[in-house]
Amino acid sequence: MEPAKKQAFQTEDLLCGVDYAAFPVSPIPAVNVATVPQRSPLRYPGGKTWLIPHIRKWLGTAKQPVRLLVEPFAGGGIVSLTAVMENMADRSIMAELDHDVAAFWHAALHHGPELRRKVLGFEPTRERVKALACTCPSNVVDHGFRTLVLNRTRRGGILAAGASLSRVGENGKGIASRWYPNTIVDRLSTIGKYSDQIGFCETDGMRLLDALLSIPASGAAIFVDPPYTAGGKRAGKRLYAHYSLDHAKLFSMLADSGVNFLMTYDAAPEIISLVREHGFTAVQVMMKNTHHDRVPELVITPLPVFIR
Ligand SMILES: C[S@@+](CC[C@H](N)C(=O)[O-])C[C@H]1O[C@@H](n2cnc3c(N)ncnc32)[C@H](O)[C@@H]1O
Repeated sequence: MEPAKKQAFQTEDLLCGVDYAAFPVSPIPAVNVATVPQRSPLRYPGGKTWLIPHIRKWLGTAKQPVRLLVEPFAGGGIVSLTAVMENMADRSIMAELDHDVAAFWHAALHHGPELRRKVLGFEPTRERVKALACTCPSNVVDHGFRTLVLNRTRRGGILAAGASLSRVGENGKGIASRWYPNTIVDRLSTIGKYSDQIGFCETDGMRLLDALLSIPASGAAIFVDPPYTAGGKRAGKRLYAHYSLDHAKLFSMLADSGVNFLMTYDAAPEIISLVREHGFTAVQVMMKNTHHDRVPELVITPLPVFIR
């Protein structure tokens, strides 16, 4: 197929059956991630650093001061870290089901000095990283360190089974191209300073939500960034070990509670109809995917925040 025709086919394919015109485009663009502070030591697939200006606007216009920011699908935790470090929320609580990612957060929040020492003492080579991947860590620091190394040396930061090691990497530096020990240590040190304001639970985010949403007037704001698997989409399945989710139940829980939330999703037909069914509002933010196609992500809130 000629390149131009192939591109046209891909774009039509992406748009097929999806009513993008349903929602306005956000006046806030997706930012270049280099222009906002990168606070997470993990380079997370599906990470939301690009969303930070939306988060600032959302939390900045909340009716009551946000006492607790809840992030039930934490991953790299960029929103919790930013909210607490920029004083937009008094505290945060994150949940994550992936045991390896959970070990990283336990180590980062409760064993910072040991984890930082390990980072400074490690020089990644293919052999060392492969050997580390085969170890069975006997404590949470070793486990969290292994997660961090694999996350920063595998292609795209993907930890799910089948992920391969970075070959060329940044500047042709191969496996070590994303291993910046001093930067990682700085981020870990800052996390350590805020660790009494950041809670973490290794649990199903839906269970955490269920428990929190039953507390009346909790002053909580919920940031929801689930795996994108609605309508059988594959993206979330390839990126994460845990990806099954009852998307309709998640929407109902948020609607029934009346809580202040911000949720991100791909513009899958199932999600568009759930937004409409529950009377939520959504804006589109145009993003480039790995094939450089421009595709919208939805930023969903119970009431209008970005366009009034
Ligand atoms: C889109 S990623 C979150 C990315 C994150 N917002 C960031 O900026 O780094 C979704 C995360 O949800 C986790 N996850 C999937 N199902 C979960 C569940 N039921 N409970 C908690 N976490 C879950 C996945 O392991 C993955 O880390």
